[in-house]
Amino acid sequence: MLKVDGATVKIAGFTILRGLTLEVEIGRIVGLIGRNGAGKTTTLRTIMGLVDLQSGDVQLEGQSLVGLAPHVRAQRGIGYMPEDRRLIPAMTVEQNILLPAWARDIPNADQRLQTIYKLMPEVKELASRGSTQCSGGQQKLVALARSFMSGSKLLLLDEPFEGVAPALSQRLVRAVKELAEAEQGVSVLVCESEFKWARLLAEKIYVIERGETTQETTPAAAPAHAVPDNFTTARASELTS
Ligand SMILES: Nc1ncnc2c1ncn2[C@@H]1O[C@H](COP(=O)(O)OP(=O)(O)OP(=O)(O)O)[C@@H](O)[C@H]1O
Ligand SMILES: [Mg+2]
Repeated sequence: MLKVDGATVKIAGFTILRGLTLEVEIGRIVGLIGRNGAGKTTTLRTIMGLVDLQSGDVQLEGQSLVGLAPHVRAQRGIGYMPEDRRLIPAMTVEQNILLPAWARDIPNADQRLQTIYKLMPEVKELASRGSTQCSGGQQKLVALARSFMSGSKLLLLDEPFEGVAPALSQRLVRAVKELAEAEQGVSVLVCESEFKWARLLAEKIYVIERGETTQETTPAAAPAHAVPDNFTTARASELTS
């Protein structure tokens, strides 16, 4: 279980997260939905240890991660798919996927790779291709596969559906669900700027506004598309009641 409790983060003197609180229970897929600049990426970077907390706590399985370097958090089973994919251009698809295992001494790396290939055969087909020779959508699948290499307990996915055609988005939804099923007990936190795909994927959805979670809702109660301007806390509680 992931717990973010009262996370406050300052970047360059500005308060970006304001006591943000959320929970991802073991084995659940949870969405974090908010407009551009709401603080989604900062939240994931905070959980990954890429930015420091001013106050508050981040816990995985009841243990605080505060003060642990990002690579130590990865060793503890956290996988991160950044917004911009960040594949290494000089490497093949397979080398990119294996990179977290080489860097962090991840156990069962070969077994995990075979599981990934079984669940995502299109990634296996690309294995020996240079990562720059993949389309943007294919690179998203590769980045998802790479996050799964270290994410045995928690997957942090930053806008996996952004700029992806509907057919591939459906494929990504299935891939995340299948990965989660194959790796029993893995928790997933997925950020998006609209509800559309998160509704199909997540079992619980938080709305993030100006660096704090303002609402918790269910996929069935969430609006179908963008966060509407009138989706205030009051309106959302009507939806969930
Ligand atoms: N390095 C930085 N320096 C200054 N401000 C920053 C920095 N990184 C983020 N911010 C600010 O923090 C706020 C939250 O940014 P963040 O990237 O977390 O938002 P987001 O919800 O992921 O947005 P998007 O949907 O555009 O990806 C924004 O106002 C942004 O301008
Ligand atoms: Mg972002």
